[in-house]
Amino acid sequence: MGKSSKDKRDIYYRRAKEEGWRARSAFKLLQLNEEFQIFKGVKRVVDLCAAPGSWSQVLSRELFQNQKQEDAKIVAVDLQPMTPIDGVTCIQADITHPKTLHKILDTFGGEPADFVCSDGAPDVTGLHDLDEYIQAQLILSALQLTTCILKPGGTFVAKIFRGRDIDLLYSQLSYLFERVVCAKPRSSRGTSLEAFIVCLGYKPSKNWEPKLELNKSTEEFFEGAGIGKSDNLEHLDFPVDEGRTIGTFLATGDLNDVDSDATYRPGKERELVPVQMPTAPPYKKALEMKRRGDLVRR
Ligand SMILES: C[S@@+](CC[C@H](N)C(=O)[O-])C[C@H]1O[C@@H](n2cnc3c(N)ncnc32)[C@H](O)[C@@H]1O
Repeated sequence: MGKSSKDKRDIYYRRAKEEGWRARSAFKLLQLNEEFQIFKGVKRVVDLCAAPGSWSQVLSRELFQNQKQEDAKIVAVDLQPMTPIDGVTCIQADITHPKTLHKILDTFGGEPADFVCSDGAPDVTGLHDLDEYIQAQLILSALQLTTCILKPGGTFVAKIFRGRDIDLLYSQLSYLFERVVCAKPRSSRGTSLEAFIVCLGYKPSKNWEPKLELNKSTEEFFEGAGIGKSDNLEHLDFPVDEGRTIGTFLATGDLNDVDSDATYRPGKERELVPVQMPTAPPYKKALEMKRRGDLVRR
């Protein structure tokens, strides 16, 4: 979050700066927790695609300060480097690579996680179909990693974009979790397709042992997971019609709370300093190239 931005009248952007969160996304996780109590009884947490770290800040505050769990463990993973956060182990790695799973497991001493979240978003290309495809692949990678590390009964939360084929993902998730809800926190702009899948009660198929390997396809990975088997869906409280799943959609948050799409005049016109300076901003390389005279207009 820089010094100035065209977003400065966005109430959540200002609130994040005032309250010391590195990004406005912090409110999305806080509001999801208000609805689903996802932090309850949680000791080992994985925050995938975590930079700059506002979700990890929320988790650190919740587990160490509010719940006073000294032995809690939080692992944050991102392609980008992250400035340290109290009690959080930061791993700079790609969540789509199998090695990353082993790095996380090492931090937990081989114990499973209680909660995995992913707020991942790839750099957008502007080609809508391609962006949607890459985002879907990132969610699948997060899910594969999650199935290898989450304890039965655990929770998985991930950012999604509600594109055309999203019901396929709901169907697949419904075979793996007791309850799957698509939630839209109030701090997520109504004008954006962004939403979050909240998957509660992980229930892997009995004889399935998920294994992440470099040259394994997604299909091969989920072989044996029982996806597509009707007896795995008996618990569902929403209709499955000819293979299409109509997921539950829930707008979360207090209707009286501030609206992320509205413009608010700040009480006092004052400039707030950034909570955390960018660690590896993409413009750094461009500035270096400009200094060297390598940045030429063609
Ligand atoms: C919207 S940001 C996450 C914000 C974060 N939840 C917070 O609260 O500060 C999305 C992040 O996804 C990361 N990302 C995208 N693809 C990734 C990958 N394959 N492996 C790890 N991180 C990835 C990006 O580097 C970026 O930092």
